[in-house]
Amino acid sequence: MEPIIELRNISKNFGGITALNSVSLEVNEGEVVGLIGDNGAGKSTLIKTLVGVHQPDLGEIFIRGQRADNWNAKKAREAKIETVFQDRALTPQQSIVWNIFMGKELRYPLGFIRVKEQQDQANRIIREIGFTSKLIDAKSQVGNLSGGERQGVAIARAIYNDAELIILDEPTTALSLIETQKVFDFVNNIKAKGRSVLFIGHNIFHVFDISDRFVILDRGKVVHQLEKSDVDSPENLIKIMKETVEKGE
Ligand SMILES: Nc1ncnc2c1ncn2[C@@H]1O[C@H](COP(=O)(O)OP(=O)(O)OP(=O)(O)O)[C@@H](O)[C@H]1O
Ligand SMILES: [Mg+2]
Repeated sequence: MEPIIELRNISKNFGGITALNSVSLEVNEGEVVGLIGDNGAGKSTLIKTLVGVHQPDLGEIFIRGQRADNWNAKKAREAKIETVFQDRALTPQQSIVWNIFMGKELRYPLGFIRVKEQQDQANRIIREIGFTSKLIDAKSQVGNLSGGERQGVAIARAIYNDAELIILDEPTTALSLIETQKVFDFVNNIKAKGRSVLFIGHNIFHVFDISDRFVILDRGKVVHQLEKSDVDSPENLIKIMKETVEKGE
């Protein structure tokens, strides 16, 4: 099976700074990959390159086995790769359904929004990803939701856009334990549907719980890739990270 996306020897420089140094990485269908690394390791640069915000200086990108040239944001969207940035992109004073369909509303030929259809679809998607509370439905205002639930709305929007690879950038950093668990439930549900997730985080415990595989980035380089089965605990993963990073010095 071809990976959904594969990066081969991607390098990116900003002036004199090497943000990515020959990075190779792949994400397969239905897989949750945890991308970890210290501040400045290059995680955000890697994501931005994946979603076409940055053009790599060197290296190749393959989408389901096909080489993609002149990679850009439009091509990334067409390849069904979506990023969920921490609730920044949501409008709190609007409803869940409004936020999911924002800019991509279902309309009648005369331009009126298909309100009922949108609500039904939004309800279906939020139930699919794991919103269980009876008090929350498509019409609920996003501003009244908890942090984890807002993250869920952002994920629901990616699902409406039919994302096959969803990139979550630090989705649990500002969340409590219970809210973090909600985000994990959302991620596990989308994974169960065969979608893939690239999960970026500082908190190794969070990344450990949710990921099938880990990619450790250090100063622009992938220094280690591990399967979950190679690591028996988050403490173990932290130890491996420290050892690899020290070796690189
Ligand atoms: N647009 C830019 N212009 C110049 N330098 C940049 C730019 N973006 C990133 N860098 C540099 O590239 C390196 C990698 O940064 P990046 O933001 O990718 O790290 P990160 O792993 O996301 O860190 P953090 O955990 O702090 O978010 C850093 O040295 C950073 O200063
Ligand atoms: Mg970052």
